Amino acid sequence: APITVKKICCIGAGYVGGPTCAVIALKCPNIQVTIVDLNQARIDAWNSDNLPIYEPGLDDVVKAARGKNLFFSTDVDKAIAEADLIFVSVNTPTKKTGIGAGFAADLNYLQLATRRIAEVSNSSKIVVEKSTVPCRTAESMRTILEANSKPGCTFDILSNPEFLAEGTAIADLFAPDRVLIGSLQTQSGLDACEALMSVYSNWVPRERILTVGLWSSELSKLAANAMLAQRISSVNALSAICEATGANIDEVAYAVGKDSRMGSKFLKASVGFGGSCFQKDILNLVYLSESLHLPEVARYWRAVVEMNEHQKSRFARKVVDTLFNTITGKKIAILGWAFKKDTGDTRESPAITIANHFLSEKARITVYDPQVTESQIWLDLTDYGAIPAEPIKPHMTICESALEACHNAEAIVICTEWDEFKTLDWAKIYANCPRPAFVFDGRLMLDRKALQKIGFSVVTIGTGDRV
Ligand code: UDX
Ligand code: UDX
Ligand code: ADP
Repeated sequence: APITVKKICCIGAGYVGGPTCAVIALKCPNIQVTIVDLNQARIDAWNSDNLPIYEPGLDDVVKAARGKNLFFSTDVDKAIAEADLIFVSVNTPTKKTGIGAGFAADLNYLQLATRRIAEVSNSSKIVVEKSTVPCRTAESMRTILEANSKPGCTFDILSNPEFLAEGTAIADLFAPDRVLIGSLQTQSGLDACEALMSVYSNWVPRERILTVGLWSSELSKLAANAMLAQRISSVNALSAICEATGANIDEVAYAVGKDSRMGSKFLKASVGFGGSCFQKDILNLVYLSESLHLPEVARYWRAVVEMNEHQKSRFARKVVDTLFNTITGKKIAILGWAFKKDTGDTRESPAITIANHFLSEKARITVYDPQVTESQIWLDLTDYGAIPAEPIKPHMTICESALEACHNAEAIVICTEWDEFKTLDWAKIYANCPRPAFVFDGRLMLDRKALQKIGFSVVTIGTGDRV
C-alpha cells in the first residue's frame, strides 16, 4: 500500500544531513522535518544565527523553514519514534585501527544509530541510508534492525546517496542532476521507494529520480566519486608533463574537454583534491576490491590517491626548489586553508599537507582563509591533538587578512581558489615583499601576466617556466 510520509527524522546534523534535510523541509511544507545530533554544540549552532557550517544560500533556507516545519534537536529517541522515514546521515570516516585500517570505513557511528532506531521504534519505519557507505551496508543495517525490532515493527531500508558538492550544496539540492534511490525489489521495498520518491517529487522532476537495486545504488556513489577524483588525478598527472615540456595544462584541458564524450567540467589542475569524500570513497573501493580478490582493480583505484599525494608533495617541493633549495627560516604565506572555495570545511585539505611539508623544512608560515577558524587550523595541524602544538607554534601565524599574511613574505602560496584572492591589491602586496617575490599558484586562478608585470615571479601548476 502507498505510504504517505508526514514526519521525517534525520540522524546527523553535519555537512550532508543539515543542508539536505533543510531543503527537504523548505520544499515540502507538509512534512515535519527534525534533524537530530548527539553533539549539543552543533544543534545549538543550528538553532542560532551562526550556523555550524558555511554554505552559500543555507542561511536563507534555514531561516525560512526553522520553527515552522524544520527543527533541530538532541532528542534523538523522540524524533526517531515520531518519524515515518529516517535519514541516517552520520559520519563514516576511514578506520584508523583494526582490520582494514587506513582503507575501510568505520561503520561504528552508523551501527550505533541503527541500533537506536531498532530500540526506540514502536511502529514501522522507512530507514534511508544517506551517508556514503561501502557496498552492502544496507544489508547489515537490515540484519541489525530485524534482529532488534519490537513485534509488529518492520523496517524497509533504502539507499539514497547524496551527490551535493560543498560550496554549491544548496544549488545542487535545488536542482540535482539526479536523485538516486536504491531498494530491494520486493513489494515492500518498492513501496518504500515510492514513498521517498514522492518526497523528492515536490521539486525534482520525475525523470531525474532514478530507481535501482540497493547494491547498485551503494556502488554508484563510490563509482561517481572515484571517477570524478580520477579525472583530477589524470589532469594533475598531465600537469607534471606540461611543466616539464612547456605545454600549458589549461590549454590541454580545454582542448580535451571540448570532446562531447568527455565534457569540460572537472578538468581543473590543482594542488590536489581534498574533501571528506574522494579519498575516503576510493580507499573504500580499494578495500572492497581486495576483499573480492580483485587485486588489479584495487591497484588501479589506489593509483588515483597516490597521484594526488604526489601532486601535493611535488608542489611543496617546487616551492622549496624555487626558493633556492631552502625555506628554513623564510616567511611563507599560505592563502586558503579550506579544501575548496565557498566552504569552511578543511577535511583532507591539500593546504594541510603543504603546510606540514613547509613545517618540516622549518619555514615560518602565515595562513589566511576567509572562512576557516583559527581553532580549526590548529586541530588540523595537530591532527586533532595527536601531535603536540607547542613545537609548531613559533612557526605558525594565523592572520585576519590576506594582506597581513602576505606582508614581508618571500613566497605566497595559493592553496584554495577563493574569489577574493583574484582582486587583492597585488601591487601593494608586492611593495611589502622582499625581492625576488614569488607567487605559487596552486589553483591556476591568478592573472599570471598581470602579476609578472607588477614584478612577481610566478610559478603556476601545469605551466612550463619557459612561457
Ligand atoms: C564531491 C563530489 O563532487 C560530490 O558529488 C559528492 O557528493 C561529494 O564529493 P566535494 O568534495 O564537496 O564533492 O567537492 P568537489 O567540488 O567535488 O571538489 C573536491 C576536490 O577536488 C576539491 O579539493 C577541489 O578543489 C578539487 N577539484 C575539483 C580540483 O582540483 N579540480 C577540479 O576540476 C574539480
Ligand atoms: C579513438 C578516439 O575515439 C578518436 O577520437 C581518435 O581520433 C582515435 O582513437 P577509435 O579507436 O577509432 O577512436 O574508436 P573509439 O570509438 O574511440 O573506440 C576505441 C575502442 O574503445 C573500441 O574498441 C571500442 O569498442 C572501445 N570502447 C569505446 C568501449 O569499450 N567502451 C566505450 O564506452 C567506448
Ligand atoms: P558528513 O560530512 O557526512 O555530513 P559530519 O561529520 O559533518 O559528516 O556529520 C555527521 C554528524 O553525525 C556529526 O555531527 C555527529 O555528531 C552525528 N552523529 C554521529 N553518530 C550519531 C548518532 N548515533 N546519533 C546522532 N548523531 C550522530
